[in-house]
Amino acid sequence: MLAESELRLIKPLLVELQLHEQPHYADHPQLSPGQIDEALDVRPTFEGENVVFACRDGQGDLTGFCWVVLFDPGTGLEGELAEVYVAEAHRGRGVGEALVRRAVELFEQRGVTLGYVWTRADNEPALRLYRGAGFEPTQQLVLTWYPGGVGAGGRRPPAQDPGPGAEAPPASGQRPPTKLDR
Ligand SMILES: CC(C)(COP(=O)(O)OP(=O)(O)OC[C@H]1O[C@@H](n2cnc3c(N)ncnc32)[C@H](O)[C@@H]1OP(=O)(O)O)[C@@H](O)C(=O)NCCC(=O)NCCS
Repeated sequence: MLAESELRLIKPLLVELQLHEQPHYADHPQLSPGQIDEALDVRPTFEGENVVFACRDGQGDLTGFCWVVLFDPGTGLEGELAEVYVAEAHRGRGVGEALVRRAVELFEQRGVTLGYVWTRADNEPALRLYRGAGFEPTQQLVLTWYPGGVGAGGRRPPAQDPGPGAEAPPASGQRPPTKLDR
């Protein structure tokens, strides 16, 4: 592991990495080595921020919320819509749209360089909501890691029947408690 005083050593390689990658994203600004170098500040720790926007009904009760996470690991400020939820009775009336619009305004005010949200590919209301606010499906392949999965110490159960007397494999899909695949 690099010591704090050595972190700057990876900067030239980071610049190389970004120079190598950016031509693959034609709609992304093609930055010069100097611009990339200037935007990078690799530190041993960084802080994040939670901002939660909420809507209330006429009685003051919450009808929905949008939880935004902001953090800059040293490569530019990132913003995630961590959770968006509108109570069932209040859906389809623009509450989600107002919440996400407010979150995007925050991204703009704070100079977020990358914003994202995870959702199921079949979540039609959420997809319409996010696309309407300017989010687009990523061009990149996102790979996720979960504890207990292949390569994480534990191995997923074999697909084939282990035979009589063998320890029964965990039920299909069973895994330790983790965050949802969002
Ligand atoms: C997704 C959710 C936040 C949308 O909130 P909402 O207040 O109902 O959304 P709005 O009324 O502001 O509508 C936003 C867009 O979604 C569309 N939409 C809303 N409900 C829809 C439905 N049932 N089917 C299809 N589209 C729908 C609206 O038409 C609108 O799109 P448009 O501007 O292109 O017409 C809400 O359905 C919800 O809380 N769902 C459960 C939690 C969830 O899935 N959260 C997102 C997970 S990341």
